[in-house]
Amino acid sequence: MLRVQNLYAEYPHAQLGHVLEDVSFMANSGERIALLGANGAGKSTLLLALLGVLPPGHTAGSIEVCGIKLEKATLTHVRARAGLVFQNPDDQLFMSTVWEDVLFGPLNYGRDKTTGTTIETAHGGISLEEKARFLLDSLGIGHLKDRMSHKLSGGEKRLAALASVLIMEPQVLLLDEPTAFLDPRGKRALTTILASLPQTMLIATHDIPFVEALASRAIVLCKGVIRADGPTGTILRDKTLLEESGL
Ligand SMILES: Nc1ncnc2c1ncn2[C@@H]1O[C@H](COP(=O)(O)OP(=O)(O)OP(=O)(O)O)[C@@H](O)[C@H]1O
Ligand SMILES: [Mg+2]
Repeated sequence: MLRVQNLYAEYPHAQLGHVLEDVSFMANSGERIALLGANGAGKSTLLLALLGVLPPGHTAGSIEVCGIKLEKATLTHVRARAGLVFQNPDDQLFMSTVWEDVLFGPLNYGRDKTTGTTIETAHGGISLEEKARFLLDSLGIGHLKDRMSHKLSGGEKRLAALASVLIMEPQVLLLDEPTAFLDPRGKRALTTILASLPQTMLIATHDIPFVEALASRAIVLCKGVIRADGPTGTILRDKTLLEESGL
């Protein structure tokens, strides 16, 4: 589902050297993997690299998403299969209302283009509009549907951003600190939804209870290098590993 081989990445002009160094791992279909690491370890950079967002010429190695090798010519194909929920929801919400933000993806990149502007196409028997409503209700933000996206609270924005990605049903879900800003109820709603989804997930987070509830495997990044990759329980019990990785 996901194959990363000998990935190196650096930011232009940053003089940091490599922020990802010789990163290799594979994710099987349906696997939920936590991406752990201290601030600055390279988690967000890795998620961005998987979508080809880093400037070309500053990465090396190979990335395959759903059997498609990531390169300039395949960018749109890869991005149709992998969806990223950004660390900062302001990077994701750009329409005026929550409803428009959630429908933007399906109407502009989705399968509903053939129907024009009307939202009628069946998604497993329900219309896109019904699906959007169901998703917003499941996340506990149905009442925010007509609110202005940029005037929501941090947690509300996070849930709206999640809805705008989940509605696309990408085969691979890349989540960057999905529980940041969420209150316990929002976190529970999110955990329930993610646990019910069949998708492959790579979840960058500092939220250990969330990891324990959701991810069977964890990868620990330390200064851009994979320090450990194994069953969540084993990784979380390894105090030395966690301390040395700044966790
Ligand atoms: N746009 C950028 N330009 C230059 N350097 C960057 C940029 N974004 C991140 N970096 C640097 O790359 C390194 C890895 O950052 P990254 O955001 O991937 O870390 P992270 O593991 O996601 O951290 P956090 O837990 O704080 O979100 C850091 O040293 C950071 O300062
Ligand atoms: Mg980050």
